[in-house]
Amino acid sequence: MDKLRVAGGQRLSGRVAIAGAKNAALPALAACLLTDEPVRLSNLPDVVDVRTMLRVLEQLGAQTTTLDGGVEVSIPDLASHEAPYDLVRKMRASVLVLGPILAREGRARVSLPGGCAIGERPINLHIDGLTRMGAQIEIDSGYVEARADRLHGAEIAFPHKTVTGTENLMMAAALAEGTTVLRNAAQEPEIVDLAELLCGMGASVRGAGSDVIEIDGRGRLGGTEHRVIPDRIETGTYLVAAALMGDDVTLTGCRPDQVEPILDQLRATGVKVGVVGDALTVSAPNRLTARDLRTAPHPGFPTDMQAQYMALMTQAHGTAVITETVFEHRFMHVAELLRMGADIRIDGHTAVVVGPRALTGAQVMATDLRASACLVLAALVAAGTTTINRIYHLDRGYEAIETKLGALGASVERIR
Ligand code: EPZ
Repeated sequence: MDKLRVAGGQRLSGRVAIAGAKNAALPALAACLLTDEPVRLSNLPDVVDVRTMLRVLEQLGAQTTTLDGGVEVSIPDLASHEAPYDLVRKMRASVLVLGPILAREGRARVSLPGGCAIGERPINLHIDGLTRMGAQIEIDSGYVEARADRLHGAEIAFPHKTVTGTENLMMAAALAEGTTVLRNAAQEPEIVDLAELLCGMGASVRGAGSDVIEIDGRGRLGGTEHRVIPDRIETGTYLVAAALMGDDVTLTGCRPDQVEPILDQLRATGVKVGVVGDALTVSAPNRLTARDLRTAPHPGFPTDMQAQYMALMTQAHGTAVITETVFEHRFMHVAELLRMGADIRIDGHTAVVVGPRALTGAQVMATDLRASACLVLAALVAAGTTTINRIYHLDRGYEAIETKLGALGASVERIR
């Protein structure tokens, strides 16, 4: 298993290019199942989860051709309607093929994803929505068995926000008979990006980005070309790196309008962030001020940035009360930060961080994607060397992180 060795204390400066969004690329790849014509996707990040989703599509019969910075996916016929356990357990987002396969084939067999480090991760809202659209669904030995002669439109009100639940039902509705209305729909920028892709394929999707999305089903959808949006969580991660150790860092290829919640929170702590077109400029302030944080679905502060923000708060003056409202178990990074010298106390869904505390390098363990990013950020500011184990978690969602940080001046080495 690869490790990262980070020598802390290096200042960062220069430019870093933000890659395409993993959480936009995954639903976009799943949407290719909705047509027998070629779909060209560009700006896909070179991360493990995208490669895994391409493998899932190939098992389902896709022909994939790599283009510069993107891929062409062509699925003239489905070779299978099953997403097997060994692939789904590696990446929960594989559940995104359920809606498209069912809408196209009238049947689908997709392994239940199972939980992960941050929570139980049920998909009951996906299943309830498809059932309301006319699917017969059974759970059989860890698999979702779904059948539907033809899905029909329905009024579906989510009891609470679900990103991939919204995406699964948008894709199923695009080939259903009639109109589907999703209420209390997720509003993340990745939802808007998927809607734009579906419209490019000939679907009629209205209201994406708001909490009510209307989809008029079509008999068939066609191919298209689509460029996925930049990754707002990678953007936030490099903003925090610069807020900790930056002299003058520029992030290029961003969508500043999609990271407002992150910019607002960082600015409240004293971080100065400039916006110049699709670039963000940021430097570490002389003094970071502790500010409370409560994660929430978009347009709230993203849960995927909570761990990274906690790393920042270990260096801020005062006490920051961080409340995680989305996942039930997303403080796995705390134990490792404590081992580096942080002062953090967990009380249920709240973590109380007292700073500033000098961090010292240590052997630490990555547990999930964003906790790993938090440990890299802490290592940048820690005195001495930090070795981060199990960085396969990191490789799932961050493209060439040691190369990008190294180019900014960090001392980061991958040990194979
Ligand atoms: C998406 O996961 C993202 N993944 C996650 O990013 C992100 O943390 C999450 O949305 C929240 O923003 C992708 O887009 C591939 P949810 P998702 O359904 O869709 C509960 C990362 O680091 N829930 O919005 O699985 C669920 O347990 C990953 O890139 C149900 O109860 O999240 C959670 O508590 C991690 N029933 C809450 O809702 C359901 O049917 C929000 O989950 C579905 C979800």
